[in-house]
Formats: sequence, structure tokens, C-alpha cells
Amino acid sequence: MTSNGSNGSGALTQEAILEALKDVKDPELHRPLVALGMIQDVTVEGGSVGLRVVLTTPACPFREQVQQEVRDAVMLLPGVDSVDIEMGANVRASSNEGKAKPIEGVRNVIAVASNKGGVGKSTVAVNLSVALAQLGARVGLMDADITGPNIPTMTGVAAGIQSQEGMHVVERYGVKVASIGFVLQKGMPVVWRGPMIGSAVRQLMHDVAWGELDYLVIDLPPGTSDASMSMAQDAAISGAVVVSTPQEVSIEDATKAVGMFERLNVPVFGIVENMSYFACPHCGERTEIFGHGGARAAAEELGLDFLGEVPLHPAIRQGSDIGAPIVATDPESPQARALIEIAERVAARLSVLQFVGSVA
Ligand SMILES: Nc1ncnc2c1ncn2[C@@H]1O[C@H](COP(=O)(O)OP(=O)(O)O)[C@@H](O)[C@H]1O
Ligand SMILES: [Mg+2]
Repeated sequence: MTSNGSNGSGALTQEAILEALKDVKDPELHRPLVALGMIQDVTVEGGSVGLRVVLTTPACPFREQVQQEVRDAVMLLPGVDSVDIEMGANVRASSNEGKAKPIEGVRNVIAVASNKGGVGKSTVAVNLSVALAQLGARVGLMDADITGPNIPTMTGVAAGIQSQEGMHVVERYGVKVASIGFVLQKGMPVVWRGPMIGSAVRQLMHDVAWGELDYLVIDLPPGTSDASMSMAQDAAISGAVVVSTPQEVSIEDATKAVGMFERLNVPVFGIVENMSYFACPHCGERTEIFGHGGARAAAEELGLDFLGEVPLHPAIRQGSDIGAPIVATDPESPQARALIEIAERVAARLSVLQFVGSVA
């Protein structure tokens, strides 16, 4: 690094650059990037400045805004001709204090839950994990829905393929996937009972080589069954995403799921409204089949974040059926955008939660 500002208006040094950036804040954490240690590797060569911005998640919805604010602030310094900004991320690990058994190598566990089946829990879990992976995170997806393990089909992993080798991960769309479904034949009735459910879930969490993960997304069984209870109690679940459809009855169910997590001291990131409206694939017209906005209102009433609405769209269902998640196959479509934005919001909620946890 050189530090001889040549135009007489103060030297261009690392310190001067950090000083110029002192008011640029992380939009989620509301604290200066410099104070958070997010500005790294500042270099100065003549009028060329280089630096790294290390966010708390590659899925940060404000990454472009942050980059622009950093650029603008540095460009204001006399003598600066160019700024080369490398955007990076270092996902922090959630605190595992008081949890029975953290999953080795896994920084954060995101549970996707609902109080009943058929609301799109697995669809959201799959697209959430693929979206996070596409944004650059290391992601795993664990199918803990022993009552209906749909993740293999939805991610295009043939059922039964692993019955020889036992349980291990299969990589699909950049996501490490493991499911109890891998060891079951397709169409085979699932008659796991109480204690077996718990041990199968524990096996999936601890005996599978997940490796280093920023996020492990878990598709929980619907409701407050043995499996979800033991999961929530045992595993270090960082937070839960509750999926609901807009009808009143579905929202009542979602409220129960929220209550369960609260009793178990698992933070709830918020509610997703799935099948929010029908987006006609021909004309784009919106039809609100189940009513609309119920989940948003419920989230507000419960003091939770509303994480977004996903339209009812045939392409989402088709993608699930053929194992090709919409966020991977048609990422620019409005229905995929909705899911990607939900992934960004979840990652952002997690960053905020960790930050609050770390200063508390
Ligand atoms: N937004 C959506 N648009 C169209 N079909 C959907 C949507 N969400 C889910 N589906 C379909 O509805 C069915 C149930 O969804 P699924 O994710 O399996 O629910 P759950 O896991 O809650 O039981 C699946 O066939 C899925 O493809
Ligand atoms: Mg499911």
C-alpha cells in the first residue's frame, strides 16, 4: 500500500478510507460496517482503492445497495480515481447454548413447518434451499417428514437409490440433500412409530456427512408430531419458517405451529403465504382463490414478520413433480422471484437474530 496522497488534500490511507466509511451502515443491523468488521483488505495504490465487504450472508437482499453506498462514500475522498469492491460473506453460526446436540459443521438450522400437510411446506423448503445455494451459500436440505418424504421426488433423486449404502447426501442444484425417503422404496407405506421416528431423525442429523454448511434447511413433518417435537428440542434449530395458505382454517393451524415453537423457545422467522393467489399462466391475471392476505394479517397479529407470498402457479407444481425446482429452472419468473425474496428475507432475519444474540 502507498499512502502519499499527491494532491495535497490529505493522504489517501487505509485510515482515511475507513473514516470515510464510518457512517455507512448495514441496512439490517443498523450499525456501521466498519464497526461490524465488515470492511476488510483495504488497499490503496495511487488513486485506486480496493476493499472487501464481508456481509453476514451471501443472500443479503441489500448487497447492491451496500456496495453502492460504500463506493459513493469512498469516491468522495479527494484523490480517489477508482474503487474496486469485492463483495463477500461470512455466515455466522447460531448460538447452540442450551441445545442438546448441535449438528457438526452446520452453522445454522432453518426449519420449515406447517400445522397441516398440503400447504406447500416441502415446496418452500426445496426452493428456499436451492435459492440460498444459488446466492452462494453452502446449503443442505434434510427431509425429516417421515410421514411423507417428498424431497427426493421434488429434487429429482430417485427413491430407494441409497438403500444399499444407507443414508448419505446427494447433491442436487448445489444443495446437499438427504431424506428418510432415500432408504424407502417408492410407494412403500410409512409406518414408523414414536421412538423410531426420533431415532431416524437423529440419524439423519448426525450420521449423515453434511460437511460444512451455512444453512441446513429441514422439512419438518406437519403438525406437532413426535418427530417435530423431538427435532425442535434436540437439534439446534436456529429458527422456523411457518408456511400457510390464505384461508382462515390454514391460518388457525399456522398459529398453532407458531405457538409450538414459542413453547420450545425456537425463534420464528415469520410466515410465508403460499398459494396466495392464482397467477394465470396465459394472461397473468390474478385470482384470489383462497382469499388473500390472511397470513400477512395473522403474522402482524402474532407480532411476526411476513416473509412473502407465493402465487399458485402450475409451473411450481410441475417443477416439484419432475424434481426441477422453479428457482433453478426459471429464476426470473415472478413465482421464482417470490421464493428467492423469501430466501433473502429468511437469511436476513437470521443475521439479525445472531447479531442480537451476540451482543446480548
Ligand atoms: N405455489 C404453488 N403453486 C402450485 N402448486 C403448488 C404450490 N405450492 C405447492 N404446490 C403443490 O401442492 C402440492 C402440495 O405441496 P407440498 O409442498 O407437497 O406441501 P406439504 O409439504 O405442505 O404437504 C404439491 O403437489 C405441490 O407441487
Ligand atoms: Mg411435504
